[in-house]
Amino acid sequence: MHASRDEIAGLTIVTHPLVQHRLTQLRDRGTPPERFRAELRSVAALLGAAAFADLPLALQPIHTPIATMNAPVLVGAPPVIVPVLRAGLAMADGLLDLLPEAAIAHLGLYRDPATLAAIEYYFKAPADIADRPVMLVDPMLATGNSAIAALDRLKAAGARDLRFVCLLAARPGAAAVRTAHPDVPIWTAGLDPLLDGQSYIVPGLGDAGDRAFGTSHIEDAQGSRDGA
Ligand code: URA
Repeated sequence: MHASRDEIAGLTIVTHPLVQHRLTQLRDRGTPPERFRAELRSVAALLGAAAFADLPLALQPIHTPIATMNAPVLVGAPPVIVPVLRAGLAMADGLLDLLPEAAIAHLGLYRDPATLAAIEYYFKAPADIADRPVMLVDPMLATGNSAIAALDRLKAAGARDLRFVCLLAARPGAAAVRTAHPDVPIWTAGLDPLLDGQSYIVPGLGDAGDRAFGTSHIEDAQGSRDGA
């Protein structure tokens, strides 16, 4: 596997050349929304494949046109993919390309402008989430506030087998998530050093939701960078 373990325990940077090339396209401010969406969809599938490398297999007898054999198949309940609204949606289709049988849960969070806390406004997940592998998905791990709140919410709903996939993480936010949820591994394409005064990742790629959906950033009561 093309991956490097960072000194943040439990965080894996997927160093596969196809992932790194796509991350660069996504960082480039000249990449238009339609290409941004396509690149994000592709890189989500590549990151998802790395993060789901531990899904269980069992041998099943099958007949090829030539012979019978015992061949590996996925076993267990299909995973649940949980995009954080809104930007996480831009990664969900790539993960469904990878695992069409997965369920999609939705989690809406916005940042309270006064306290900067992540406030939930929507949550819908399968009732049997406790028995399924769960993947939280959000392109940008900045302060970590929304990821921590999302993982709190998923655990309160019963999720036990959790992993978090993001396109790009900031070192302080990644460390905060790992401190709050040391049982949840993080998979990312890149780890940037810092945040600016408005909690944008530096050098980052700007506002992932705005770039994916072609909106310009307007700060309002529900406008946030984490999970917007
Ligand atoms: N969310 C984004 O979309 N971009 C950032 O840089 C940080 C959070």
